[in-house]
Amino acid sequence: MFNKKSVTDVDVHGKRVLVRVDFNVPISDGNVSDDTRIRAALPTIEYLLQHGASVILASHLGRPKAGPEAKFSLRPVAAYLSKLMGMPVEFCEDCIGPKAEAAAKALEPGEVLLLENTRFHPEEEKNNPEMARQLAALADLFVNDAFGSAHRAHASTEGVAHYLPAVAGFLLEKEIRYLGQAVADPKRPFVAILGGAKISDKIGVIRNLLTKADQILIGGGMANTFFKAEGYAMGDSLVEAEVLDTARELLETGKTKIRLPKDVVIADGFKADAASKVIPTGPVPDGWRILDIGPETVAAYAGVVSAAGTVVWNGPMGVFEFPPFAKGTYGVAKAVADSGATSIIGGGESVAAIQQSGLADKITHISTGGGASLEMLEGLTLPGVAALQDK
Ligand code: 3PG
Repeated sequence: MFNKKSVTDVDVHGKRVLVRVDFNVPISDGNVSDDTRIRAALPTIEYLLQHGASVILASHLGRPKAGPEAKFSLRPVAAYLSKLMGMPVEFCEDCIGPKAEAAAKALEPGEVLLLENTRFHPEEEKNNPEMARQLAALADLFVNDAFGSAHRAHASTEGVAHYLPAVAGFLLEKEIRYLGQAVADPKRPFVAILGGAKISDKIGVIRNLLTKADQILIGGGMANTFFKAEGYAMGDSLVEAEVLDTARELLETGKTKIRLPKDVVIADGFKADAASKVIPTGPVPDGWRILDIGPETVAAYAGVVSAAGTVVWNGPMGVFEFPPFAKGTYGVAKAVADSGATSIIGGGESVAAIQQSGLADKITHISTGGGASLEMLEGLTLPGVAALQDK
């Protein structure tokens, strides 16, 4: 199923290896505040070092608009990685050009260099061939381990693979195996749980999963748009008026598979201390809005999940940042963790919810990708993977 070469299929001894990682991590006050993605890249980095390679790491951070911006510098990540690995990690303040070339050249086997944010060059996001060529000139081999960025066809994710032998890292391979298999050959029943604010982000995912999954359980703000499409007044709830026709069409096509909440928690404001109550699904009074799924829905969804062979979950069931509206998301998290099914969670918010609930170690696979994991569920081929050498 995964038919790309990986680091174990090539000789890395004595080679300079350019590794695209996804170190797009949250940084607050100059410190890494969530290191999940950094830790997830360690197996590939360590394998390369142990096998006599020198490692040149490249990544983007954030979305700088026009050139370098201090708040998007990867420098704090170099310091963090150095501490994590207990060894020096060199940092170079550019990812291409004379400084990067000199730093890469000076690197000895067993040493690690982190290059500055690839997006400090606007050519990165344009997949500019000259930038790709300059990145490639730093190394003898390209390894893509940046699953979270593999849906982007950028110079450091896709373009560079045309100028060097290019293979997958362990994280990329693991992610594609889990997400690819869940969709292509799931243990049944295959249950998808989709939440988050918007349907518009997930139309392609719903369409694809309607052909693959046995049930699709809906929660979060996106349920409101389905309710509105069914004709209910939604009060002050978030509704995407521009996709009501699509929502109607999805409900019609998916009528045997899509399940909407039976009850919801409504609030009289978008704040943690708003007045709230549980109502059965139906019209929402003026001045009120839906902020979570209700207890009956949690129980019903938990029942479906407990019988599943495979569960894929993306997107929270409510505004779980506000504790009074977190019960739906945490209830579903617990059901997924207790299910005994092959469980796969993707998307920053659902991953945060499972981590905050202390249940992460009961999940089969927690994806490091947001957009990339959604594109996998949509059945799309990711450009950063397609560009790698076939086995
Ligand atoms: C992510 O955080 O999903 C990836 O790092 C990709 O970032 P991007 O959406 O800015 O391309």
